Amino acid sequence: MKKIIVAIDGHSSCGKSTMAKDLAKTIGYTYIDSGAMYRAVTLYCLENGLFTGDELDVENLQKEIKDIRISFVKNPETGRSDTYLNGRNVEREIRSMGVADKVSPVAAVGFVREEMVKQQQAMGLEKGIVMDGRDIGTIVFPDAELKIFVTAAPEIRAQRRLEELIAKGENASFEEVLHNLAKRDHIDSTRKDGPLKQAEDAVVLDNSDLTINEQNKKLLELFDTHSC
Ligand code: DC
Repeated sequence: MKKIIVAIDGHSSCGKSTMAKDLAKTIGYTYIDSGAMYRAVTLYCLENGLFTGDELDVENLQKEIKDIRISFVKNPETGRSDTYLNGRNVEREIRSMGVADKVSPVAAVGFVREEMVKQQQAMGLEKGIVMDGRDIGTIVFPDAELKIFVTAAPEIRAQRRLEELIAKGENASFEEVLHNLAKRDHIDSTRKDGPLKQAEDAVVLDNSDLTINEQNKKLLELFDTHSC
């Protein structure tokens, strides 16, 4: 069977990464979390004094962007890929509210996107990947054989995200999480470069009322019809 590229785009916290990971595992493809790359750049900015409050030092980030190396390394304990920033495992740090709160302005910077898109395209040269993000089916892989656009009601997304944070021992309220999601959706959809947008040939999947099993079944059916 020929290898294809599966591009999964959609809003924040609608379960894209869970579905992308599950699908990749089932079909034996490599999963790539493009959001983790923008989160890692954001962590770099936070750790290197490139933020003053909400103000991002774009000039210095431009000088340093070439020194920011992001890679994914399989963790033998979990069987999943962890995100590395300049050789350091930052998988846990990049999922914090502190990073989530600052990632949208970083992901809106043109030269940051250019660099990340370049790295993502290189990861897809051999095909056989499932990549999730916001611009995968539109900008990164406009010729992907299967494109899925995922969405779910904002309150359902906020509740799922809150449960994730609580499970990790982070403190946050439902309102705070809902507000953060709404802010990110707005910035992601209205930015000039690589905005979150449904590709014309994407299949829409609203998973507000779907169980993970139902969703996985649907995805596998879509994969089977697009990969032969
Ligand atoms: O999917 P996520 O929540 O981990 O993404 C983190 C942020 O990165 C989010 O604000 C959107 C942005 N992002 C992006 O702009 N383009 C992508 N391909 C993936 C994520």
